Amino acid sequence: MHKVIFDTDPGVDDAMALLFLHNHPEIDLIGITTVFGNASIETTTRNALFLKREWGISAPVAKGNGQTYDPARNTADWPVMIHGHDGLGNIGVPETIDLPIDPRPAHRFIIDTVRANPGEVTLIAVGRMSNLADALKEDPEIAGLVKQVIIMGGAFDVPGNITPAAEANIHGDPEAADVVMGAHWKVIVVGLDVTIKTVMTRKRLAELTAANGRHLKLLSDISQFYIDFYGRHVKDEGMVVHDSCACVYLVAPELFTTRSGAIRVVAGGIADGQTIQKPDGRAFPPGDWDGLPSQHACIGIDAEKVMALLDETL
Ligand code: BDR
Ligand code: CA
Repeated sequence: MHKVIFDTDPGVDDAMALLFLHNHPEIDLIGITTVFGNASIETTTRNALFLKREWGISAPVAKGNGQTYDPARNTADWPVMIHGHDGLGNIGVPETIDLPIDPRPAHRFIIDTVRANPGEVTLIAVGRMSNLADALKEDPEIAGLVKQVIIMGGAFDVPGNITPAAEANIHGDPEAADVVMGAHWKVIVVGLDVTIKTVMTRKRLAELTAANGRHLKLLSDISQFYIDFYGRHVKDEGMVVHDSCACVYLVAPELFTTRSGAIRVVAGGIADGQTIQKPDGRAFPPGDWDGLPSQHACIGIDAEKVMALLDETL
């Protein structure tokens, strides 16, 4: 069983990823931590509670502090265009959900849960890396206690999606992402290099919904707004399932090829939020890359098999 804390900003593709984690028989979802991004921290937390209630998820929800690692950074408005005003495709999520929130802030929940399960917890982070960086700042030793960190974010050999240089999750908090990549834990980065190849078409989602009832119906309703936006840019009118792709990596890493090497994140300037990897084996003069751990960037994917596994699990 894979013990997972899901760090998320629901978010339409986050919702699909959450249903995947909940349904997969080899995954034990032991916590959901929320981060701002696709909407404000209030909205993403409310959405996590809403999905928890609708899908009968038992994992506790802990709320992030809604701040970038460097407080001077501003957040952007663009997610409304993709995820809607309510962050879940404008389906009309109730204002409040009558479920308890874990009393600890998200980063503290991560620390406590990792310490209670040394060597066993996988962190899957599919929003800004703010909570993970805060956890490392408060308790750097957790790096040695986490099993692995799987991130949806970044773009190595392809253009970004929020600027030509940067992917949205990393661009939203580059300082945090640099801390996470540079920590001495195992990081697997599932970025745009591979996620853009994983597309759920509107037609396929409708077929899955017809065959599977209530849970899929909610997911399908949530996803229509995102598909209306994305479908214009994607073959066969579909949605790129970024966050689910990172979750599939957990149970089927053999469907991905990775490149290893230290990873750094640019902060500031026109390449703000760009992820850069120094491939292992390449030598450079001493400098900013010295002493960094080698991490793993996904650069290849068997997208057909990844989508088949996602289909089957949803
Ligand atoms: C990432 O940005 C968010 O909008 C999505 O939920 C995904 O995590 C893709 O760049
Ligand atoms: Ca996300």
